[in-house]
Amino acid sequence: MRFLISILLLCGLFGLNACTEKSDELAIGEFGSLTGNEATFGQSTNKGIRLALEEANLAGGIKGKKLKLITYDNQGKPDEAASVVKRLITQDKVLAIIGEVASSRSLAAAPIAQQYKVPMISPSSTSPKVTAAGNYIFRVCFIDPFQGKVMAKFMTENLKLKKVAILRDVKNEYSVGLADVFAKEAVAKGAEVLADLSYQAGDIDFKAQLTQIKSKNPEAIFIPGYYTEVGLITYQARQLGIKGVFLGGDGWDSNDLERNSKKAVNGSYYSNHYSTESTDPKVQEFIQKYKAKFSEVPDAMAALGYDSAKILFAAMERASEMKPEQIRNELAKTQDFSGVTGNITIDADRNAIKSAVIVQVEGDARKFIANIAP
Ligand code: PHE
Repeated sequence: MRFLISILLLCGLFGLNACTEKSDELAIGEFGSLTGNEATFGQSTNKGIRLALEEANLAGGIKGKKLKLITYDNQGKPDEAASVVKRLITQDKVLAIIGEVASSRSLAAAPIAQQYKVPMISPSSTSPKVTAAGNYIFRVCFIDPFQGKVMAKFMTENLKLKKVAILRDVKNEYSVGLADVFAKEAVAKGAEVLADLSYQAGDIDFKAQLTQIKSKNPEAIFIPGYYTEVGLITYQARQLGIKGVFLGGDGWDSNDLERNSKKAVNGSYYSNHYSTESTDPKVQEFIQKYKAKFSEVPDAMAALGYDSAKILFAAMERASEMKPEQIRNELAKTQDFSGVTGNITIDADRNAIKSAVIVQVEGDARKFIANIAP
């Protein structure tokens, strides 16, 4: 009896998967916004991960074991993100976690993954703060200081626009960080920020801010927000007679962007993680496979979900033991991984060094404009 108790105690103390799990499957966790204002973020990521998982399992799994994905919806809420990540670790005993898209939710969950020493890979959170949460937290996308610079350079040098207004989501870590970098870089390149105003996710009426912006007559309006509000903002802006070019960041990327904008967002530019117009055969093959399975074109989150899963599987394949710590160590060694979102090398701060693309909205299509290396 005493022996049994100490075994159980050991399992609890060290979270040994073998004690509680069927050992014939390797459990991977995922958390995301499958519902709510940013539902396409979570849904697309999930589809990308599932495609990668299906391919890995068809090829025999990892070291002879099949992979199992456990996914929880956090409804777009940071506190829910933290609680489902705890559940993935303590109840489901996952080996690693993929998530989240939104920086605010990755930030809420990262301290838990770090505390339990389970590797967490964000496919697409770009706020620098995310990976600063600790040595178990990784990402496979670029960060906002780079993205903000890319858009400031594009506006001032390519479009030759110098008078800009900014409209940021003040409750969103990503939006605030990206707005700050963009403003600083734009001013350094000779631009003038005529107005810097804010809103909060969930708002539906932006006329007060837009009326102020209109009175300044900017040539460009930078809106570093998520697609639901960006759709409404661009629509209301054109209704009010605002003529400037709309610019944004990766948070625009959704097949639902046009829905709220009623075409007002057409012609706008944003920075993104990949282009569906890439001529790279690997990218086109991914798009074909994804379309065959889900009957839609994969957006950037789908592509990043796919790449994060593949990077994780490669690390698991290399790990000397199938344990979170060994998987973490191999993730940190990821170099020149040839993904659909570019070549991915994880640096000493567990961020990915890679290029950004600029796309232009053309209805449902995203026209490739430029590729910008770090
Ligand atoms: N980069 C955004 C963030 O950190 C999330 C995002 C990524 C949204 C990719 C859309 C596409 O919050």
